[in-house]
Amino acid sequence: MTTQDTTPGGASARPGMTAAIKAETGLDEEVLHDLVHRFYARVRVDEVLGPIFAARISDWGPHQERMVAFWSSVALMTGSYHGRPVPAHVPLPVDAWHFDRWLALFRETAREVCTPAGAAHVILRAERIARSLRIAVEEARAAPDAVPALG
Ligand code: HEM
Repeated sequence: MTTQDTTPGGASARPGMTAAIKAETGLDEEVLHDLVHRFYARVRVDEVLGPIFAARISDWGPHQERMVAFWSSVALMTGSYHGRPVPAHVPLPVDAWHFDRWLALFRETAREVCTPAGAAHVILRAERIARSLRIAVEEARAAPDAVPALG
């Protein structure tokens, strides 16, 4: 498995739940695609976050595809993302302030692109994941030899 694997045809791992979430939030693969693309367009020109991404990502196509799969898994429970976010962030020069900035841009974009219920759904999940990523990054710095607890 690579981090770029997706469930063929965007089929859901939990079809009933995915259908219910879509109906309640107005979210679907197309909205998430739009959300991810507009969010990273903002990130790339952001004076704080832009340079951190630019130093690591030269081909944005695969990253955006991976992030659409990630958000499909997180928001719609499709199981289409198989990567490991924690090790990807541990080496980055980020602290709490960068996560706050990331969340501010994400909230703005989600409110533009999604219905109010859809924005609330993705923002809540982004906040939870940002918190656990920030803690994992801090713990890895405090104990660099320990294996990260989260995938
Ligand atoms: C402090 C702000 C953040 C920065 C600067 C940042 C930066 C990055 C960079 C540079 C990568 C590419 C790593 C690589 O391919 O080598 C990446 C990957 C990723 N990021 Fe972030 N990120 C941040 C916050 C977040 C948050 C809050 C989330 C989730 C809500 C997230 C989710 C992901 C995911 C899922 C990947 C793909 C990991 C993989 O499967 O390889 N990031 N991020």
